[in-house]
Amino acid sequence: MSADAFYQRFVRPLLFSLSPEAAHNLAIRNLRAASHWPAALRQLERFQPAPKPTTVFGLTFPNPVGLAAGFDKNGVAIPAWAALGFGFVEVGTVTAKPQPGNPKPRIFRYPDQQALINRLGFNNDGADVVAARLRSLRASGRWPAIPVGINLGKSKVTPLEQAVEDYLYSFRLLAPLADYIVLNVSSPNTPGLRSLQQHDALEELLRAIRRENETTAKPVLVKIAPDLSLADLEPIIATSEQNGLAGIIATNTTLDHSAIPKRADQTGGLSGVPLREKSTEFVRAIRSRSQLPIVASGGICDAVSAREKLEAGAQLIQVYTGYVYRGPGLLRSLTSDV
Ligand SMILES: Cc1cc2nc3c(=O)[nH]c(=O)nc-3n(C[C@H](O)[C@H](O)[C@H](O)COP(=O)(O)O)c2cc1C
Repeated sequence: MSADAFYQRFVRPLLFSLSPEAAHNLAIRNLRAASHWPAALRQLERFQPAPKPTTVFGLTFPNPVGLAAGFDKNGVAIPAWAALGFGFVEVGTVTAKPQPGNPKPRIFRYPDQQALINRLGFNNDGADVVAARLRSLRASGRWPAIPVGINLGKSKVTPLEQAVEDYLYSFRLLAPLADYIVLNVSSPNTPGLRSLQQHDALEELLRAIRRENETTAKPVLVKIAPDLSLADLEPIIATSEQNGLAGIIATNTTLDHSAIPKRADQTGGLSGVPLREKSTEFVRAIRSRSQLPIVASGGICDAVSAREKLEAGAQLIQVYTGYVYRGPGLLRSLTSDV
């Protein structure tokens, strides 16, 4: 039986019989356990797609399909993601301070739309704990052969005026351990975070990170929201280029819930198929204005939607919601058909 059929017939019905967050925790617990057990990793490697290497911002990726931020917020299952065949993995969002996130329930499934809404609010162990975990993974020799990005956000308790210091704290701890760093200024679930996309605020953040990165010299990317106007993009691209960013991740989840029936709607960021077109539009708009590398995220659920992102100008793609609905078979179909 193919990985796709196995996931559709057995794994997904089991996971979807649980609440979205319980299903997520069960998957993460198993992948975390597998990450410590070489025999289990070898079993996962049976799903591995054939390599299709590509080099972007100085890093070599065995294939262009990555796991998007938010799946493994605390970096507990990195060897398992590599064994499953991802070309790269983005840990986080990590904040300077540990935080519990918003009250549950806070993830909602919409199978008819192949979508999710989440308002997790950056629940994570905090930069100190994640840095210690990643340091020990590096020391163990189990660090994988794929690039590992770390996505940073602002702690909820930190006032916006102190956002730069908050990011710098996490950057100092985590940049030395990462292959690339992402500045997440686009989650809709931390009050005020998206205002850091405005020109002056973004400029201040990027300048400070640039100074801090003089010694670490890691590729730094910014992740943007699909709810910006296309006019807002111009200053973001200009600031990113002027401050030596390695690329842009387009996009995070959307606040446009028009695809979801009113009676079932929830507060939070919408991901999956209804986001696809909008995020592709952003990739195309960035590419028409800049040569910066683009990592596309939003509604990739099959080879057609993946190819659409690459043809719009992305070098790399990331999946989250599509992986929830289709499992490891998605990765195989993306890496073989694009
Ligand atoms: C449950 C959930 C949690 C997420 N958490 C984060 C996060 O912590 N940081 C982040 O940058 N993006 C986060 N995202 C956004 C994804 O990384 C991705 O950009 C977005 O979902 C669009 O891709 P998709 O349509 O393939 O899901 C999250 C998405 C979901 C569904």
